[in-house]
Amino acid sequence: TAPLRIAIAGLGTVGAGVIRLLDTNAQLIAMRAGRPIEVVAVSARDRGKDRGVDIARFAWEDDMTALARRDDVDVVVELVGGSDGPALALSRASLGAGKGLVTANKAMIAHHGLELAKLAEAANAALKFEAAVGGGIPVIKGLREGTSANALTKVYGILNGTCNYILSTMERTGADFADVLAEAQRLGFAEADPAFDIEGVDAAHKLAILAAIGFGTQVDFANVRVSGITEVRSADIAQAAALGFVIRLIGEADVEDTPEGPRLLQRVRPCLVARGHPLSAVEGATNAVVAEGNFSGRLLFQGAGAGDGPTASAVAADLIDIARDEVGAPFSIPGDHLSALPPAEPGHRPARTY
Ligand code: HSE
Repeated sequence: TAPLRIAIAGLGTVGAGVIRLLDTNAQLIAMRAGRPIEVVAVSARDRGKDRGVDIARFAWEDDMTALARRDDVDVVVELVGGSDGPALALSRASLGAGKGLVTANKAMIAHHGLELAKLAEAANAALKFEAAVGGGIPVIKGLREGTSANALTKVYGILNGTCNYILSTMERTGADFADVLAEAQRLGFAEADPAFDIEGVDAAHKLAILAAIGFGTQVDFANVRVSGITEVRSADIAQAAALGFVIRLIGEADVEDTPEGPRLLQRVRPCLVARGHPLSAVEGATNAVVAEGNFSGRLLFQGAGAGDGPTASAVAADLIDIARDEVGAPFSIPGDHLSALPPAEPGHRPARTY
């Protein structure tokens, strides 16, 4: 059978990881996908940089949007990042040209998910973003497919590895916020601009995507209420510990019934989590998502939320779906019929303890 021919834009740690994974697991992927998945073209900022993978065998485009115009490409993999700019231009061009799009770009999906979903639908092209939330954890597939027969009552969890690393390391060692943040940057899981991590914005991007999948609503990033961890002091952590709690940055979405109808509540904030709750044991750069379904009960999805291997694993799983001709709907409900629940009035809920 004809291979699925892909182009990769962005060859940072994740892009190189995808190439490594497709090389290493080529045989099992071809078996599970029903055909080989072949990289045919790539684009990145610096052609000469040593990435530990051989890219000389692929066609090179200086202008990444040229990948969307290539006749020999079926699917574009966008690993550039940033909510707008080149990533969005490439994504629009790819879907507009009827090519599938696989992306790890949480900011772009949080801001432009609806528009891209409509483009994908119009072209009958796949739009997949498993890698955008929770790195290697198959939480998009889990919520979209695994809990599809349930009414979800709540989706919440630890969605930013940098914050979780900072909070759990401060807790364990008593170290200062700034020192632990510097270490997270050195380890490579903090965003290029770590303000997105510590101010809760990165978690909010991911929460908006999870809420849309879990509750069948439009992605509604603008109505996520966000507070990050910059105000959390070692003394707060110590005090919480004395009372039997840990502090975790939790993103939470649920639906509240009001006289005006149901409203989607989305928020990201530091919460007290009782020792004994599964999220209290989540340490380091790990992510974990809890989904509560009315028939499934409480489900826990946990794993590495960042890093080249886990993120590449999620990207490649999306590629396998497309190779099997599983186009699917980007969100739960086809784009034209998406209806967003109105947001809740801000600030009418007290801080939550888990
Ligand atoms: N900066 C993100 C995190 C990377 O720390 O979780 C994965 O999205």
